Amino acid sequence: MKKRLLVTRRLPDEIHARAARDYDALLNPEDKLYSTEELVALSGEVDGFLVCLTDKLPRAAIDRFDPRLKVISTFSVGYEHVDAVAARERGIPVGNAPNGVTIATAEIAMLLMLGATRRAPEGERMISAKAWTGWTPMQLLGRRLDGKRLGIFGYGKIGQAVARRARAFDMEIHYHSRSRRPGSEEQGAIYHATLDALLAHSDVLSINAPSSPETKHIINARALALLPRGAIVINTARGDLVADEDLIAALKSRQVGYAGLDVFEGEPKHHPGYLDLDNVFLLPHMGTSAIEARIEMGNEALDNIDACFAGRKLPHAVN
Ligand code: DGY
Repeated sequence: MKKRLLVTRRLPDEIHARAARDYDALLNPEDKLYSTEELVALSGEVDGFLVCLTDKLPRAAIDRFDPRLKVISTFSVGYEHVDAVAARERGIPVGNAPNGVTIATAEIAMLLMLGATRRAPEGERMISAKAWTGWTPMQLLGRRLDGKRLGIFGYGKIGQAVARRARAFDMEIHYHSRSRRPGSEEQGAIYHATLDALLAHSDVLSINAPSSPETKHIINARALALLPRGAIVINTARGDLVADEDLIAALKSRQVGYAGLDVFEGEPKHHPGYLDLDNVFLLPHMGTSAIEARIEMGNEALDNIDACFAGRKLPHAVN
């Protein structure tokens, strides 16, 4: 008998086909968002959950899961929406999708970086508003990336992929992560033992660290004041690393020259103050929205489910 698997959101056809081939799959082609309460109820009807970052599974929900549910795998590298410790205490392994996201997210970081330094959103808005009156020598002057110092906060797979791409733009790479990386990963990047030291050396700051209690609002007024005046701030990680009020104040005072943000605290809500600013490039969490990424993410998430039901350790276990 096939195991019953809930796939909470609409995923690429290739992933639906694999899920339906190997499982009694409860798919969601209408892409309706399940509430946490609905997921608690469904834990008694299926053997596994393939969830997304929009599915909130706190301890209070996991503690009430039916014993039928044997595994949770998330279609994302971030897993802050699942209380993995509570799941472990219930004997439920949790896995994520750590690799498929890398290139697509690094590409969006480069898009934001280029858009912010060259003021592309303002140009786009000018044309959309039918306000462009023609080329002028001083119109929308930005800055080039070459020779600028890129500070990468969080030097995991995505941070390193951003570094590889930025090197092609002749940027000087600096980074801070919990520990210094081996030379094969540093590739000449300059390590800073503290985030403060990194900030002081970042003409462009790329946030690539995970969301955690330690990183919540770590990019706050104090941190932003350490950046060189006019620095660019790029966030493709998680919105809650940034204190929005503080970033908005820094953008208004031009201590931060421009922000390129793909993620927001409490998304899809976002601080309304961003909408009043011209020096922002805002995207609706599109870091991994490339079909190649989404197929790889789906396959990684399914690999976790397969391993669990084959009695093996999850290949991308997080708990
Ligand atoms: C992830 O995988 O955590 C991404 O944010 C999804 O886009």
